[in-house]
Amino acid sequence: MIDDGMYLNPESPKTRSIRKASYKGKDVLLIGGESHKAGQGKAVSHHYLALEKFAEETFGIKQVIDRWSAQDLTTLDKLPYIGPMHDDYPNIYVSTGYRKWGMTTGTLAAMILSDLAEQKQNRYADLYDPKRFYADPSIVTFLRENLNVATHLIKGKLDGTKQSLGKLERGTGTVFKHNGQRSGAYRDDDGQLHIVDTTCTHLGCEVNWNDGDRTWDCPCHGSRFSYTGEVIEGPAEKPLQTKSFTMFDAIDVDQESSGY
Ligand code: FES
Repeated sequence: MIDDGMYLNPESPKTRSIRKASYKGKDVLLIGGESHKAGQGKAVSHHYLALEKFAEETFGIKQVIDRWSAQDLTTLDKLPYIGPMHDDYPNIYVSTGYRKWGMTTGTLAAMILSDLAEQKQNRYADLYDPKRFYADPSIVTFLRENLNVATHLIKGKLDGTKQSLGKLERGTGTVFKHNGQRSGAYRDDDGQLHIVDTTCTHLGCEVNWNDGDRTWDCPCHGSRFSYTGEVIEGPAEKPLQTKSFTMFDAIDVDQESSGY
């Protein structure tokens, strides 16, 4: 075990953060790392396994109590936005873009926002002003992020995935196509299929299966949906459309016989 405190191993690509916590009266470790974009790159299970391996090799930990993924918002210039959101609404404040430093930045935000609310000077207010605009490197980052979104939008539409639902094991999900339409299927632990339209309800990119959390994740702006289609995390506000189980059950039989 480690002493109280938070520790960060900044080496790339194996950044790890470690801190001690208490769970049901016992000391546990919170180990974070494996940064990646939602819905992009390697299977999420790969990231969880890497963290478990690190925990075992470094601390001899054999039991994992829980695991989860969270999203950290990053602004164009990587500094948080803290302050009045817009000149037209000077009394509406925003505080976001903490880039994984929520405890530190949350405290900073409280100091800045309380000063602003009381109309006091704060020496950091200009630095974190949400209305700032720096042409460089913000423009480059902005263009790169939008290119990334465009790439995934097109890639998702061209996805030629062809999977057989008949072979889909319990607790697993997959993307498949029928009559040219991309859909997603998850077979729960009781064997029931849950089928969704994989078109994200935010701006129409195609969601991908997250095998670590059993969710549908959008590679464009990070919306996440449960395997039954409900929104877990925005910016999407509407659930994924679900599809008739009965219809696809029949397709499943077709797939097996036709090698679909
Ligand atoms: S298109 Fe899916 S989150 Fe924007």
